[in-house]
Amino acid sequence: MTRKELDMCVFNALKYEFEMCICFTHCLLLIIAMHLFLHKPSHVLLTLLLLHVQCNGSNDSIVPAVIVFGDSVVDTGNNNNLKTIFKVNYPPYGQDFSGGQPTGRFSNGKVPSDFLVEELGVKDVLPPYLDPNLKNEDLLTGVNFASGGGGYDPLTSVLASVISLDEQIELFKEYKEKVKSVAGEEVLNTILSKGLFVVATGSNDVTNTYFNNPLRLYHYDFDSYTHLMVDSASSFLQNLYNLGARRIGVFGIPPIGCLPSQRTLKGGTLRECAEKNNELAALFNTKLSMEINYLNLNLPSARMVYIDGYYLPLDIIQNPTKYGFDVSTVGCCGTGTIEVAFLCKYTCSNVSEYVFWDSFHFTENAYKIIVHDFLSKNMNLMM
Ligand SMILES: *[C@@H]1O[C@H](CO)[C@@H](O)[C@H](O)[C@H]1NC(C)=O
Ligand SMILES: *[C@@H]1O[C@H](CO)[C@@H](O)[C@H](O)[C@H]1NC(C)=O
Ligand SMILES: *[C@@H]1O[C@H](CO)[C@@H](O)[C@H](O)[C@H]1NC(C)=O
Repeated sequence: MTRKELDMCVFNALKYEFEMCICFTHCLLLIIAMHLFLHKPSHVLLTLLLLHVQCNGSNDSIVPAVIVFGDSVVDTGNNNNLKTIFKVNYPPYGQDFSGGQPTGRFSNGKVPSDFLVEELGVKDVLPPYLDPNLKNEDLLTGVNFASGGGGYDPLTSVLASVISLDEQIELFKEYKEKVKSVAGEEVLNTILSKGLFVVATGSNDVTNTYFNNPLRLYHYDFDSYTHLMVDSASSFLQNLYNLGARRIGVFGIPPIGCLPSQRTLKGGTLRECAEKNNELAALFNTKLSMEINYLNLNLPSARMVYIDGYYLPLDIIQNPTKYGFDVSTVGCCGTGTIEVAFLCKYTCSNVSEYVFWDSFHFTENAYKIIVHDFLSKNMNLMM
């Protein structure tokens, strides 16, 4: 390796680490390292040493807890004890999750909620709040309220018999009381002000509710339906803010017309992306991001960000090989064209080649890329 190559490598490592740093001392050390590197090139070894210092101790860590709301993209098992068809606590779901356990995660392994806590160094996985084995100490680093099958439209969770966003808020209130009694008000306040809150939902509103339900399709056009969804998102976010949350990331919905199931149902004989679904998703995302900017400006000390859940997944679907995948038009389970949940009986031979796990949900490898992109681009906006 030439000196120039080494410099380039060190510079890129510094830049990457700085984008990702989440605690004060680590970020500060990286700034010192960057300074040394730029102004004292002969100190490259010292720079490398500083680069290896990591965050330590929960005091320093700027994100003490991660709390998630939403649907099956982020649910880690809250639906397991509900009477609903929207649950997946049986194989082949979870085939790659620590020893192949079907935990109720709608993928072959980890889902975005898990990658968030893993990448932030908070813990390995994010437990569902309704887990009967949840321990008191689990509460302090965050839990998950998401429920597969739900959405912003209140009708969506009713049709699926799952936990609505309003009910997720009620559970969160209960959670706050528990934290207070376990660890005291000060710890609760730190979780609220410094914890990362993430919301990911909306796909089911479009695919299951709007296009399939006469109550919606014949009474709303794209503009009024996305208005209904954004109104609901906005009141949810204001509720969360009023309950103390400050750092809130909200995922836009993916290009759902390109989900394998939608290609099969609406993409014609060539199974192309269903353009209407994508159009509705993109319109909703535009309005959602405007609403988030508005809330952010009007709610004191709020740090809300809109997270792109559309263009990166679309790029992964359109250029799978760029991201290490081979197949992006069918899922790994069954024929890959339509199966989801209990219809998934068998799987492909090598899930690593696939962007989609079933006809509706991404594989853990795809989720990992999406979460990494979000954290590397947005964490500094939320500090
Ligand atoms: C990191 O923190 C833990 C406890 O919070 C402590 O036991 C350990 O010594 C620390 N390590 C360093 C290198 O400071
Ligand atoms: C960490 O926090 C605890 C209580 O929150 C405090 O007593 C302790 O001094 C802190 N440690 C450091 C190294 O800041
Ligand atoms: C599975 O697919 C991945 C990604 O294409 C590849 O790297 C790996 O070698 C494959 N594994 C097997 C056993 O074929």
